[in-house]
Amino acid sequence: MRLTGKAALVTGGSGDIGGAIARRLGAEGARVAVTYVGAQAAADATVADIRAAGGDAWAVQLDQRDPEAIVTCVAAVADQLGGLDILINNAAWNIGIPFPDLAALDAQIWDRVLETNLRAPFLLARAAADLLKAGDGGHIVNISSAGGISPGSSSIAYSSSKAGLNHLTRCLAVAMAPQVAVNCVAPGLVEETRMAGRLPDAVAEGARRQAVLGRVGQATDIAEQVVTFVTSTSISGQTMVVDGGMPGSMR
Ligand SMILES: NC(=O)c1ccc[n+]([C@@H]2O[C@H](COP(=O)([O-])OP(=O)(O)OC[C@H]3O[C@@H](n4cnc5c(N)ncnc54)[C@H](OP(=O)(O)O)[C@@H]3O)[C@@H](O)[C@H]2O)c1
Repeated sequence: MRLTGKAALVTGGSGDIGGAIARRLGAEGARVAVTYVGAQAAADATVADIRAAGGDAWAVQLDQRDPEAIVTCVAAVADQLGGLDILINNAAWNIGIPFPDLAALDAQIWDRVLETNLRAPFLLARAAADLLKAGDGGHIVNISSAGGISPGSSSIAYSSSKAGLNHLTRCLAVAMAPQVAVNCVAPGLVEETRMAGRLPDAVAEGARRQAVLGRVGQATDIAEQVVTFVTSTSISGQTMVVDGGMPGSMR
């Protein structure tokens, strides 16, 4: 177990990918807190799985569109876990709006997507900064999207929020060095997830067709890359695409 003694906060641990990341961190020995906004039963199931495997986990409600709630949540998590070494900015919100339908993407939807997917990861990093710097090597991993690299996803707002998150990763890597490494995983289509189900069918089919490895990602593939980042001491400011090798997101 490579993360024994470490404390980790995974936002969106009630979700498909956040749940997989939390379980994987727990299996590596980390004490894990997961957030949810409404799906308490799903968050509790993540916690129960980690505990059943012999780990230590806890669920906390957070609407990360609320800046004050973020500060309160991070402090409560640090109290509960006895510090904080790892922040996984995984929670996000999307809605399916085809790119050409500009009229459907109104200011309210734009703000909800950007507040949840880009502003909140920054505010979480800000709230956690001193805690992460206090240990012997803090880590932040942002969960972005291949849609933040190539212009195709559930909506223009979502792609733009994830492009911003990719660059926020680089900015925070500079800002929080040398005590904290900041990296990013950018999944393409991840099979059997609620979020993938909100993609227009043509986008999902296109991803499956274009993946040069003949498969797109599973939630466990994303969790594996997260563990690679948080067990490294020599990588910061990087975005790793995990999408089965789509030419559009190769750089
Ligand atoms: N699934 C894919 O194919 C795919 C592809 C590329 C990138 N990603 C990225 O991977 C990450 C996880 O996606 P997923 O598929 O696991 O999505 P998901 O199952 O829909 O989970 C989303 C998570 O975000 C939480 N959340 C939503 N709005 C929130 C808010 N305002 N405040 C706090 N938490 C909020 C949800 O909480 P509740 O459960 O309580 O609602 C849930 O835990 C996201 O960053 C997503 O953009 C996913």
